[in-house]
Amino acid sequence: MLFRGWGESVDERWPDVATVADHVGVDHLVVTRHALVRQVLADPETWRPDNALDAVTPVPVAALRVLAGHRFRLPPTLANNSTPSHPAIRGIVAEALHPTRVAAQQPWLTGLVRQRVTGLAGALDAGEPVDLYAELAADLPLLVLARLVELPDAPVGAVKDFARAALELFWAPLDADRQLTLAAEVGRFHTVLRDFAATGGGLAAALRADGHSPDVVVGALFFLLVAGQETTSQFLTLLLHRLTAEPEVRAGLRAGTVAVADVVEEGLRLEPPIVTWRRVAAVDTTLGGTAVAAGTSVVLWLARAGRDPEVVAAPDAFRPGQRGSRRHLAFGAGAHRCVGAQLARMEAAVVVAEAAPLLDGVTVVRPPWCPDNLTFRMPDAFVVRRP
Ligand code: HEM
Repeated sequence: MLFRGWGESVDERWPDVATVADHVGVDHLVVTRHALVRQVLADPETWRPDNALDAVTPVPVAALRVLAGHRFRLPPTLANNSTPSHPAIRGIVAEALHPTRVAAQQPWLTGLVRQRVTGLAGALDAGEPVDLYAELAADLPLLVLARLVELPDAPVGAVKDFARAALELFWAPLDADRQLTLAAEVGRFHTVLRDFAATGGGLAAALRADGHSPDVVVGALFFLLVAGQETTSQFLTLLLHRLTAEPEVRAGLRAGTVAVADVVEEGLRLEPPIVTWRRVAAVDTTLGGTAVAAGTSVVLWLARAGRDPEVVAAPDAFRPGQRGSRRHLAFGAGAHRCVGAQLARMEAAVVVAEAAPLLDGVTVVRPPWCPDNLTFRMPDAFVVRRP
């Protein structure tokens, strides 16, 4: 389960908590029930977020040297920060992603998506295959983020390559050769971030002005560029793929009887791009009646919690608006709950509203394929065509 936590083959009868050894023999306490996942997320004193960005495959010395050569460091900033600096850093990031600023991007995004959809509809009408990941979803979140947060002047492709390399380096089972390659990729872009953190305006300047060290500024930009765009493009791809198999939902959208916002929530519940998230036990404690030793890695199975029958009436069915649909934990909960939730929802709503009609009558030529990863789905493509 650990590296394919969304797979259909995952055994239905999981206990509430279970110890599972990973590929290098480290035990993790996997938590499956909604109530227990929530309990952990709501108590950052007992269950700290410090391990959120730890590499699941220990990074060997050779790759560490490559990273060190780029002065790579990821000090506690956002997701992995249980120190007193967290609220202030989070506050500055939240300001940049304020719902008012997010809402102001909606008309621009709608125009861009509409333009792309028109082009893609033409290609589909002509019988051509269309990759909805590459040609629609992949870069949208980064383009929006760049309008909200001042970012280094780097080509979109370079940022995407860096972000995907980081998700693989820290969350995938890997061999040493691959780790070296990824370390070089991540390190290279880290240098770009470090230069930008020293001089950049906007969010970087606000963090500097608040007295945060250059490492913290780099760490915040790193996390935003990875989690703040890659997650959403993954989600858009997975949601569109899911909707190809949900003709009734698409008919409801067309007829106006199904709300776009409800489709987005049901999508987050059933197809979360982040399937697990980690915490570490700070003290000896118990969870769901099981003793947990201090230092235990806890894997919160967010995807499974979204399908908990105690929370949702029809856990595996895509029924927008059903009772419990919005109670998913796709964005986490508590002090570290996703700051970009509003932004991700806005982007998904625009894409569903504009692009769902594209899916009518298509056949899936190539469903999204997702590599082994503890946390992120990372679909690589999603190709459809109209027969
Ligand atoms: C569908 C898309 C997204 C999903 C599913 C998602 C999910 C998550 C999850 C599970 C966490 C950890 C929460 C916890 O520890 O309780 C998180 C944290 C975070 N996310 Fe997202 N996220 C998404 C999009 C975004 C976007 C668009 C941004 C910003 C541009 C963003 C920025 C952040 C930040 C800054 C944190 C760390 C918050 C903190 O520790 O205080 N995320 N996200």
